[in-house]
Amino acid sequence: MKRNENHVFLQIFLESMNDYSKKLKNSIYQLVTEAADELGVDAYVVGGIVRDLYLKRNSKDIDIVVVGSGIGLAKAVARKLSPSPAVNVFKNFGTAQFRYNDEEIEFVGARKESYDYDSRKPHVEDGSLQDDLNRRDFTINALAISLNGPNQYQLVDFFNGVQDIQNKIIRTPLDPDTTFSDDPLRMMRAVRFSTQLNFQIAPDTAASIARNAERLKIISKERIIDEFNKILLSPKPSVGIVQLDKLGLLQHFLPEVLNLKGIETINGKGHKDNFWHTLEVVDKIAAVSHHLYLIWAALLHDIAKPVTKKFNPSLGWTFHGHEFVGSKMVPAIFRELKLPTNDKMKYVQKLVALHLRPQALVDESITDSAVRRLLFEAGDDVDDLMLLCEADITSKNSAKVEKYLTNFAIVRRKFIEIEEKDKLRNWKSPIDGILIMETFQLRPTKEVGIIKTAIREAILDGVIGNNYEEAYQMMLEEGKKMGLKPIL
Ligand code: CTP
Repeated sequence: MKRNENHVFLQIFLESMNDYSKKLKNSIYQLVTEAADELGVDAYVVGGIVRDLYLKRNSKDIDIVVVGSGIGLAKAVARKLSPSPAVNVFKNFGTAQFRYNDEEIEFVGARKESYDYDSRKPHVEDGSLQDDLNRRDFTINALAISLNGPNQYQLVDFFNGVQDIQNKIIRTPLDPDTTFSDDPLRMMRAVRFSTQLNFQIAPDTAASIARNAERLKIISKERIIDEFNKILLSPKPSVGIVQLDKLGLLQHFLPEVLNLKGIETINGKGHKDNFWHTLEVVDKIAAVSHHLYLIWAALLHDIAKPVTKKFNPSLGWTFHGHEFVGSKMVPAIFRELKLPTNDKMKYVQKLVALHLRPQALVDESITDSAVRRLLFEAGDDVDDLMLLCEADITSKNSAKVEKYLTNFAIVRRKFIEIEEKDKLRNWKSPIDGILIMETFQLRPTKEVGIIKTAIREAILDGVIGNNYEEAYQMMLEEGKKMGLKPIL
């Protein structure tokens, strides 16, 4: 540990406490100091929060490591707070945690750990601070600041983590094969930190990931996707996705995206490489939106291109119906990856299914009824759909791009005009099934559905207005056609 570095670090630490209202954290640290002194143990703030302090990033959780009992220190600190928060104890892991004013504070006793090769079941033993830092994932996350005793506020940096932060390097503290064997998820984390922070993975660390990639299979999909989602929410997700591919990780959880790779040529005609195209679309969306599932929709929008690909001697390469087939592939992918299979999945399915429609509208020289229909189907997600469609234009021909974007701007204006007039975004028919049944004294039979559909179609086609009077009239006419008599 070098003295002057410590000094600089201490200053950053104290300064950051003064600025963005870190008073709360400050008071927690002070209570940890008091409680650790009273218990006669050494306590350190450790991990991501120290790294983020140096990177001047906001951090959420506070991790405290104590050479002694983490549970004992957590309880002692909680007792000093008023009101005193409930402490959650995880005896098997030797950790304890509580929330205080929206901050999560976790305490862990410094430990030595080793793992079973196949199960990740840890053998935990008490250890020194050095043992604890040895078993962490990366040098940039193996930094600690002492909170009490003669070295209070001194940085502990056994593996030159500060230097790696300065040089923007992701490196494991120990032999990378050991670090990744302890927890193969760390291979995903290496790519995640590299993408989020724009750091390089050190060559020996990267080589070890490539060697051990297959070990990702013992990791739960939830944990993998947690890291992958953080990659998708990074400023430029393609940086991470390309690395995941190069290091052999992507194939273990998203082979469908890898299948988009490659260009086939027949009779001198090739198609675009859909992997690179998809990455471009994902980056464009990530640059304008932090909506995770919109980014997922970008990632999956062309997912069915490989299975729908055909070569037609006169038309060249076609991918007919890839939007519908793709939308049908989404549930299996979401289920496999333990992503939510609720309205979030339906949203992704909807965007994948509709992603060619605005383009088609432009080609059809934009009739009102086509716009109305799309507005009805996309509902409140129509703006996201337009973002996806605009991002989907990745042509190198700038005149072509210009033309598409101008056309999309026309479509957007049409949406606004028609929405103002017809209010179709959250459309509900002015006539519901109950009224139809009451009017014609019907039970819930297929006639009710036929009348409802006819009214909806007439409104979407602009044959009748989106209002009760015209819809009521139409209901009577449709009933008459089927020989039904209204009970007036
Ligand atoms: N850690 C580890 N191996 C893991 C996960 C975490 O060694 N697989 C250690 C690292 O020291 C890390 C700390 O535990 O800094 C806290 O982990 P976590 O809260 O998941 O990540 P952070 O580093 O805080 O980063 P972020 O908040 O961005 O997730």
